[in-house]
Amino acid sequence: MERGNTVQKAAKHPLADVPEGKLESLNALQAAFRLDARPGKADLMCGVYQTRGGKSYVLPSVKLAREKLFNDSNWEHEYPSSHLGEAEFRNTSARLLFGEQSSVLMENRLSSMQALGASGACHMGARFLKMHYGPYKSNPERKVYIPRETWVNHPNVFQDVRFDTAGLPYYNFVTHRFDFKQFDDALKQIPTQSIIVLQVCGNNPTGCDPSPDEWQQLAHTFKAMNHFAFLDLSYPGFATGNVADDCAPIRLFVDIDIPFLVAVTYGKCFGLYGERVGHLCMPMPTAESAVRADQQMKLLARAETGAQPRFGAKLVSITLGDSSLKKIWEEDLRGLAQDLMDRRKTLKSELLKHDTLRDWSFVTNQTGMFL
Ligand SMILES: Cc1ncc(COP(=O)(O)O)c(C=O)c1O
Repeated sequence: MERGNTVQKAAKHPLADVPEGKLESLNALQAAFRLDARPGKADLMCGVYQTRGGKSYVLPSVKLAREKLFNDSNWEHEYPSSHLGEAEFRNTSARLLFGEQSSVLMENRLSSMQALGASGACHMGARFLKMHYGPYKSNPERKVYIPRETWVNHPNVFQDVRFDTAGLPYYNFVTHRFDFKQFDDALKQIPTQSIIVLQVCGNNPTGCDPSPDEWQQLAHTFKAMNHFAFLDLSYPGFATGNVADDCAPIRLFVDIDIPFLVAVTYGKCFGLYGERVGHLCMPMPTAESAVRADQQMKLLARAETGAQPRFGAKLVSITLGDSSLKKIWEEDLRGLAQDLMDRRKTLKSELLKHDTLRDWSFVTNQTGMFL
């Protein structure tokens, strides 16, 4: 190419050498599943509830909420009123998760932002901690601790914001249960004020949650060690069929005053996977510090997504804000959790037909969608 008197060689495209992306084994398995032509195949990999015929499922309550929204002639398509997302969604979600009478809400100590599903909420939470978590600022080498058996993307989320990560023992491959002792011992051996990632219920991929008694003991370990809990609540309602019951660990952590945040998605319990309805909630020590945390979250949101999508958030707040719709949704969710348990029972009895020597009781002892 000629520029004035000099002739320049066409430069190689600056992105020509982008390296191959190494996707984890789950992606390879999913690709193999798609290619498998056998009619009886079943997808046990993805955290999506489908009909027994493997079709997408829309909750009846969500269909009603959708209808209500579509019939609302005042429905407009403005930006949400705040960079933190739909105010109504954040308020109704917070009341659902923490309980109407929670001290965090009564004392205006909750800082929160709408996020792009639990992935987005985890990412924003990780970014927030990277910027503001005091104990790590003085020592950036400190690690975020993540159960070895967890959602495959958890380590990516933290490594992406330049946290070092380390694994914690979680699943006992012999008993097929949560290994409380090993996990609790590990929490006592790592530095105080460590950040620990933990799923609240319906654990992906183990199906094993701590029991209520184990949560009590874990809460005391968190308290004694001054650890920070990074909670992931992706399957509220999937363990017991009741969101308040599944949120008991969150309320326990509030009561015992453990510093934590919770990254929530309504993708699963409303079946709104692709609408990206997440909520990052962070109880702060005072109302005044919550205002500052909100300001910091706004800065993060502005730099990252500008504004959050409104459609799914509206469906959630319409449902939770209407007592009769909320009842239908609660019933939907109970039915969904029951159906998952029924499928476990069927699977266990089928497995027993083929192998009577092995103990298959874990299939029905575990909860949620994963096995
Ligand atoms: C434990 C856990 N966290 C987060 C996510 C991501 O959820 P979302 O699709 O809302 O981003 C999933 C999805 O499968 C999950 O299982």
